[in-house]
Amino acid sequence: LAPPDPALKIKTAPAPEPVERRLCVTTPSATYNVELRHDAGAWLIDAIDAATPNARLFILTDQTVAALHADALTRALVGRGRQVTLHSVPAGEGSKTLETASRLYDELLLAGVCRTDAVVALGGGVVGDLAGFVASTILRGIRSVQVPTTTLAAVDASVGGKTAVNSPRGKNLIGTFHQPQAVLIAREHLATQNPRQHAAGLAEVVKIAATSDALLFERVERDAKALLEFAPQPLLDVIARAVELKALVVGRDEREQGERAILNYGHTIGHAIESGERFRLLHGEAVMLGMLAEAEWAVTQGGSPKVVERLSALAKALALPTSWTAARIDLGALALDKKRQGEEVRLPVVPKPGTVELRNVSLEALASFVQRRTAT
Ligand SMILES: NC(=O)c1ccc[n+]([C@@H]2O[C@H](COP(=O)([O-])OP(=O)(O)OC[C@H]3O[C@@H](n4cnc5c(N)ncnc54)[C@H](O)[C@@H]3O)[C@@H](O)[C@H]2O)c1
Repeated sequence: LAPPDPALKIKTAPAPEPVERRLCVTTPSATYNVELRHDAGAWLIDAIDAATPNARLFILTDQTVAALHADALTRALVGRGRQVTLHSVPAGEGSKTLETASRLYDELLLAGVCRTDAVVALGGGVVGDLAGFVASTILRGIRSVQVPTTTLAAVDASVGGKTAVNSPRGKNLIGTFHQPQAVLIAREHLATQNPRQHAAGLAEVVKIAATSDALLFERVERDAKALLEFAPQPLLDVIARAVELKALVVGRDEREQGERAILNYGHTIGHAIESGERFRLLHGEAVMLGMLAEAEWAVTQGGSPKVVERLSALAKALALPTSWTAARIDLGALALDKKRQGEEVRLPVVPKPGTVELRNVSLEALASFVQRRTAT
């Protein structure tokens, strides 16, 4: 055989980027992995197995997600020799109550739950918050694993350890901090969401990009259509980066003593819109409108109108609502914002995408801005 010609270069196609990511979240109270993959196959079972050795598993889900994804997960875990029971609640925000938590306590206690057992939260942010709350309070706290099935839960609710149920007096008023053992995101789970729900979840990506990462903001601008279509690589890249950014903030300020407040961008006016619209808008849709409103308010304080323009174009590209002045806004809810300190709120202000400042803003001034803008 003739020796190979050194000038001859073997051309190989560039290896495709793997459609998987693993990130580590480190907070003062816990360290855990967030894993993202295309499929919901063996890796998911391996990861649940590794995160919950010797535990009996209580899968908490809602009825919609149960019909789509619970069977496969339960069967695969049982096939691995794990003891599993499935508990489902009606889909929707109405299940995030102490009554539902109490029913779940009864079911788990009746099944003989013990301290070494674990809860697997399979669902959107409602299931994640409720299951996290149940896990953190039953027997003074057992382990939990988050398997988010909505984009919103994947990029936001499942990471960071905030759990909650609602009170008749307001959303998320009863809750705990309880970090999961792992967060396991499968695009295959996310892909069964309806398009509106998916787009609303992408609004939380816009939020973290606007406050923390100009490049991520540009990527979402560039790939908006592909993201809406669940294109595997852009979607997992963008979710992974959003999670990484949230993890960094939560790692530095687990209990929202300071910096974590940047995650509330768009949420002060967004919550007032959610309440004014009587929850006809999805959370992410209200947050998108809240970001637009808060960015417009920043312009009245000398900020750049460019931020409003780019947020507005992005909302349109992501099929999210764009006109916050057309929404009904509950000024009472604004005045009672649960994050207020006296008469003020620490409002995240974005001078340009990727940077953020926290400013003390009078709630009255914010309410009168909203009133002025919605009156015209
Ligand atoms: N803990 C946190 O840090 C945090 C952060 C943001 C939001 N949240 C909470 O998250 C909740 C909103 O979460 P959400 O928007 O995911 O709502 P959700 O959990 O109610 O899910 C929305 C709907 O989508 C359905 N669904 C879920 N996954 C699906 C799938 N893969 N295919 C088809 N349908 C599916 C659900 O059954 C439900 O009807 C709110 O209660 C909010 O307070 C918590």
